[in-house]
Parts: sequence; C-alpha cells; structure tokens
Amino acid sequence: MIVRRHTLDTAATQRAGEELAGMLRGGDVVVLSGPLGAGKTTFVQGVARGLGVEDRVTSPTFTVVREHRCTTHPSIRTLHHVDLYRTNSRGEIIDLALGELVEEAGVALIEWGELAGDLFGADVLSITIRTDDDESRHFEIEGQRVSDFSSWGDA
Ligand SMILES: Nc1ncnc2c1ncn2[C@@H]1O[C@H](COP(=O)(O)OP(=O)(O)OP(=O)(O)O)[C@@H](O)[C@H]1O
Ligand SMILES: [Mg+2]
Repeated sequence: MIVRRHTLDTAATQRAGEELAGMLRGGDVVVLSGPLGAGKTTFVQGVARGLGVEDRVTSPTFTVVREHRCTTHPSIRTLHHVDLYRTNSRGEIIDLALGELVEEAGVALIEWGELAGDLFGADVLSITIRTDDDESRHFEIEGQRVSDFSSWGDA
C-alpha cells in the first residue's frame, strides 16, 4: 500500500507535515527522500509545528542531527531532525547510531535517509517527494505502518 498526497505550495506542504505529526507514535523513524529543494525541510517544519516545537527548524546540514523539544504531543517529547546529505559513507552513518537515538518518547525525521539504505530496518516510514512544475509536490508514504496514514492521503 502507498498513500499519496499532492501539495500546491509551501504552506500546503507544512500543513501536510503538521497533519502527519498527529499520526506519529513515539519511536517512529521517518525517512524523507527527494531531490535538492524538494521540500524535505519544509515538511519537517510542519511536523515540528504539529508536535509543538517552539524553536525554528532549519536545515541541519552542518550538524547532521538536531534535537527539538516537543511541547504538545501526549507521548512524543523529542524530534530528532537528521540530514545525511553530507555524510560520506555508510560507516559514518553507522557511527551516528541513529537506530539508538530514537527512544520511546522520540521520533526521527531523516533527510536524505535513502543514503542509509536499510540501516534503519524494515519498520521505517518512507516518504518520497517528487517535483514536477515549480510549486507542485507529490508525496508518497510507504512502510510497515502505512495503513495508519491512509487518512493523511488525498481522498
Ligand atoms: N509545494 C511545495 N512544497 C514544499 N516546498 C515548496 C513548495 N513549493 C515551493 N517550495 C519551495 O521549495 C523550497 C524547498 O526547500 P527545502 O529546504 O524544504 O527542500 P529540501 O528538500 O529540504 O532541500 P535539501 O535537499 O537542500 O535539504 C523552499 O524554498 C520552498 O518554499
Ligand atoms: Mg533540507
């Protein structure tokens, strides 16, 4: 099963992230894939808003991992925002120990997560963003719990 959603502008992508936030559970790992400028960080900003993150979410490119405190979700306390764009090898990604980073009360959103291949195991939620014209973005969610997200998709 694949759940699809189409957004027409930046605000719509942030809303899509915000709505997804309400469907996440502690321990979820979300791998975001898509070309440069696809809207991965924009989407994470929406998720952050949905989780009550108060700090500004920007691209974590130079730090690889950033942690944000979530203030409104009943069980998720930490959003781990990861960007693997500048990691150079699988070994470097293994050293980050991302699998251990996501505790029961945290979620991880990983930009360029496809660079990690299968390192996160089978139970990740995988979101692929495709671009066509300037502002239009096509989202696809796949993964073990994807049926929980069917109401997130376009009708
Ligand atoms: N429908 C849309 N959804 C998301 N972003 C959009 C949309 N339309 C236009 N944009 C613009 O595209 C850019 C997306 O940038 P963003 O940093 O979110 O991409 P990214 O996938 O994180 O890129 P990178 O691979 O460099 O990390 C922003 O400037 C945003 O305003
Ligand atoms: Mg980004």
